[in-house]
Amino acid sequence: MRQTIVAGNWKMNGSKEMVNTLILGILQGMPYIESQVIVCVPYPYLSQVESLTTHSQLQVGAQNLNANPFGAFTGEVSANMIKDFGAKYVIIGHSERRTLYGESDTIIAEKVKIALENDLTPLFCIGELLEERKTGKTETVVARQVNAVIDKVGIESFKNIIIAYEPVWAIGTGVTATPQQAQTTHAYIRSLLAQNDVNIAQSVHILYGGSMNPNNAKELIACEDIDGGLIGGASLKSDDFLSICKAG
Ligand code: 13P
Repeated sequence: MRQTIVAGNWKMNGSKEMVNTLILGILQGMPYIESQVIVCVPYPYLSQVESLTTHSQLQVGAQNLNANPFGAFTGEVSANMIKDFGAKYVIIGHSERRTLYGESDTIIAEKVKIALENDLTPLFCIGELLEERKTGKTETVVARQVNAVIDKVGIESFKNIIIAYEPVWAIGTGVTATPQQAQTTHAYIRSLLAQNDVNIAQSVHILYGGSMNPNNAKELIACEDIDGGLIGGASLKSDDFLSICKAG
């Protein structure tokens, strides 16, 4: 039985005051939640969130990292630095990084590798564009994205990787994949892993992301191969986020 995981991706949102209010709001609800809960916050707030969440069950992650350990990479942040601030998770390969910052499958696989080497759990994102879904390429695309990482780090590493399936057409659009559409792709992703190792395929968490909200979370998370959610917009309000956490 896989425990439900709900992770918030705040993206580039927040202020010191907003972070305080949001984290304290989430912490109030935590005693009533059985799911594992993670918040992935912008780098400047890692320290603040680490302090606020000490001694709580709320776990902390970052949203990106650089694949190099240190050095002359102006503006970049390493896995070690993220770890230094108490984060245990890092989002890698989000579609916004793939499309807006040109991150290839190769770069993403390298980032997954360096995260694992630093004991950070990657929240590894995959998903197809609307055009790819319309032309029947969903499975080809997610297979390419998953296989790039299997080739780089090996199937065993998936014991320490969380996958997030986020169809790009559902992100920030208010258009959610139907439970059946999401379940079909999640089952396919699991079958891809099973071609390499059946036990690992069964244990890997595959989260759904893309306009998940308090109204649709329960039905999505109830699907056999959907193990939780990666939440964008709805993770910025503690009430909405907590009600998604309770849907698990
Ligand atoms: P929304 O929940 O705002 O659609 O964003 C999903 C997402 O991109 C999470 O990583």
